[in-house]
Amino acid sequence: GTAPDLAGRHVVVSAGGTREPLDPVRFLGNRSSGKQGYALARTAAARGARVTLVSANTGLPDPAGVDVVRAGTAVQLREAVLKAAADADAVVMAAAVADFRPAAYATGKIKKKDGQDPDPIVLVRNPDILAEVSADRARPGQVIVGFAAETDDVLANGRAKLARKGCDLLVVNEVGERKTFGSEENEAVVLGSDGTETPVPYGPKEALADTVWDLVVGRLA
Ligand code: C5P
Repeated sequence: GTAPDLAGRHVVVSAGGTREPLDPVRFLGNRSSGKQGYALARTAAARGARVTLVSANTGLPDPAGVDVVRAGTAVQLREAVLKAAADADAVVMAAAVADFRPAAYATGKIKKKDGQDPDPIVLVRNPDILAEVSADRARPGQVIVGFAAETDDVLANGRAKLARKGCDLLVVNEVGERKTFGSEENEAVVLGSDGTETPVPYGPKEALADTVWDLVVGRLA
């Protein structure tokens, strides 16, 4: 829809994928393109919202009329999201945030040594930003949306994740070798904390984005 039903609202969208550095030249990353988050930012702006897009490592052009804040790691993304969420009506966490980061950062490039096995990479947990913003709402009635990529038992795992994270809506994608990542299309089910289930047929990421905003607008009323 192009109705200005988000006019006067501030929405925060995270997009892309975090990169967790191992040394100055290497990182642990993921395959998120950022396209779904950018589609959410564009459609929210088209519906009249003030949009803060927290963008992690996407390489996509800044959408017009959107405030873009860059974040590299999960810790940086958390800082940027919490800051922007302070006066937000809705927060949509479309970014693929690394669950773990290397426990240590080597300030010099890690080198291979002749005849020696490599050191194991030790990981520590990253903060769960979605769970945190859901638990500590910056304002009453703030609507929080998460994303989940599942490979099997999509709905059951989605329901469990929605409850665990404490968000209002969870967009569940089935991912596979050739699905979702980097593509222009998406297919999903949006689960609501009230038990609702909104299937979104295979189609452009804008269509899924508009369905998400329809559901958000319904909850903001
Ligand atoms: O637990 P999982 O990574 O599957 O959850 C995905 C959802 O949680 C996404 O909305 C993602 O942005 C968010 N997330 C987060 N902080 C993390 C991991 C995921 O906010 N450390």
